[in-house]
Amino acid sequence: MQNPNDQSRMDRIVSLAKRRGFIFQSSEIYGGLNGFWDYGPLGVALKRNLKDAWWHDMVAGHDELAAPTGAPSAYEMTGLDCTIIMHPQVWKCSGHFDLFHDWMIDCRESKRRYRYDHLHGRWAAHRGKKVFVTTDASGDDAAPETVARAQKFFGLRAKQVDEIEWGGGLEPLQEAIAAGSATLADVLGPDAAAPGSLTEPREFNLMFETRIGALAGDDDDRAFLRPETAQGIFVNFKNVLDTSRVRVPFGIAQVGKSFRNEITPRNFTFRSREFEQMEIEFFCRPADSAAWYRYWRDRRWRWYLDLGLTEGRLQLREHGKDELSHYSVGTADIEYAFPFLAAGEFGELEGIAHRGDFDLRSHMEGKLVRRDGELVVETGVDGKPRHKGSGKDLSYFDDVTRERYVPHVIEPSAGADRATLAFLCDAYHEDEVPDEDGKPRSRTVLKLHPRLAPVKAAILPLVKKDGMPEVAIDLYRKLKPHMACQYDEKGSVGRRYARQDEAGTPWCLTIDGQTLADRTVTLRDRDSLTQERVAIDEVVAMLRDNLR
Ligand code: GAP
Repeated sequence: MQNPNDQSRMDRIVSLAKRRGFIFQSSEIYGGLNGFWDYGPLGVALKRNLKDAWWHDMVAGHDELAAPTGAPSAYEMTGLDCTIIMHPQVWKCSGHFDLFHDWMIDCRESKRRYRYDHLHGRWAAHRGKKVFVTTDASGDDAAPETVARAQKFFGLRAKQVDEIEWGGGLEPLQEAIAAGSATLADVLGPDAAAPGSLTEPREFNLMFETRIGALAGDDDDRAFLRPETAQGIFVNFKNVLDTSRVRVPFGIAQVGKSFRNEITPRNFTFRSREFEQMEIEFFCRPADSAAWYRYWRDRRWRWYLDLGLTEGRLQLREHGKDELSHYSVGTADIEYAFPFLAAGEFGELEGIAHRGDFDLRSHMEGKLVRRDGELVVETGVDGKPRHKGSGKDLSYFDDVTRERYVPHVIEPSAGADRATLAFLCDAYHEDEVPDEDGKPRSRTVLKLHPRLAPVKAAILPLVKKDGMPEVAIDLYRKLKPHMACQYDEKGSVGRRYARQDEAGTPWCLTIDGQTLADRTVTLRDRDSLTQERVAIDEVVAMLRDNLR
């Protein structure tokens, strides 16, 4: 059994991703740009298949006439594609302008910047000298890292490490500072040689800023790259209602780029500065919203399982009351045990949030805050709204029940890059298969669900002669209009299988001597390694069926 939580396994996945053209560092020839990633030929197909599967399963293929299992009723789904730069007031009313920040901390000595909540540390003492040693390493790497740093700080040899006295286990630095058990003067920064080099934590807004127009200069020209796709949906709610036949309950879906100036992008594509989201804003009657929340939470959980993520590595985590955003009635995260995390730790793939009427009201009335349990418009010292809303009526009139209300929103918000990474990590296997001579050969294989696999089938003439390439090319041309397939005649058939296994291709079709005699081909299954003969004229229908 391979240990799935293992940094070296993650390193091998990253190396395969680069070697086989799944994911490259952005602008690599100039040394790369931290937090930005490009998808290569196989990666773009994998990520597109994932987004297409999401769009198909949530929107295009949704049956609006029947209530799906677990849903309170039938419902409609539609889509939008909004701009990345929107009116700056959108972000003021949504709360992102004031609240979308992380705390960061700088090191005067190393000139490095850290996310405050990413730093952990513990007290270490040796011969009367004490220091609070910190690290920004995560998971299993964190504790050994503090040992190595303390050893260096006290100038000890490896065999003297046991002489260090530890004052308890690792704790978040911000908790130690808040509790007063450490001060910044005591703290040895993660890359510093002497304590006291860390600055006071400061707020850092995560939105990327830009300017609109050639003569841009004053504050009114300031605009932001969207940090989520959701707001485009809220501000178009009325447009969609007025121009389509949708009626509450209904959902609007959007897939697109979002940007966050993360302080410390890390863990491959997991925390990037530019990434794609797949978001649904589902509008419903307030009285039904709790039932819709449960429906979407369970529906989205099943989606990951249906596409093949290992159930034991997925976790559905309901947020505790203290974790909920000020407007949220309930939120659950779908999380995956990524290999770069320590055993027992999970990283978020998707959040499903019950957002109440917060968003539509914010864009009507102005930025809201919770006061005495109620959402009210936040006012400035002059008593006027701090950030004025659009003043447009975003309520909904139900012409059957004759009720008017502001719909409540359930938001399943997924990250396309995180999901792609989770499917890549989950699919990665190393095993042994017999080669052409029956000897065991180690192989790397991506056991991707056929719907996600970048290439569905490879067509391989056994040799480049005896009419085999002609038959193979003919089959390739028959299959290509129906699915992504590749023709490959280079190298031994064993090597060609290995290439396809690494790319995650579920089926290989080999054209051999027998094909010429009886018009059958060998169909090799990537996972079971079974090889069966199928009639060449049935291949297209059979693989199309398998893909369904
Ligand atoms: N509209 C709600 C919203 O944006 P979020 O939890 O901040 O919620 C939703 O983001 C999803 O977007 C996350 O679950 C994650 O999959 C993805 N995501 C967020 N920040 C990301 C980042 N820096 N890099 C990659 N994906 C990210």
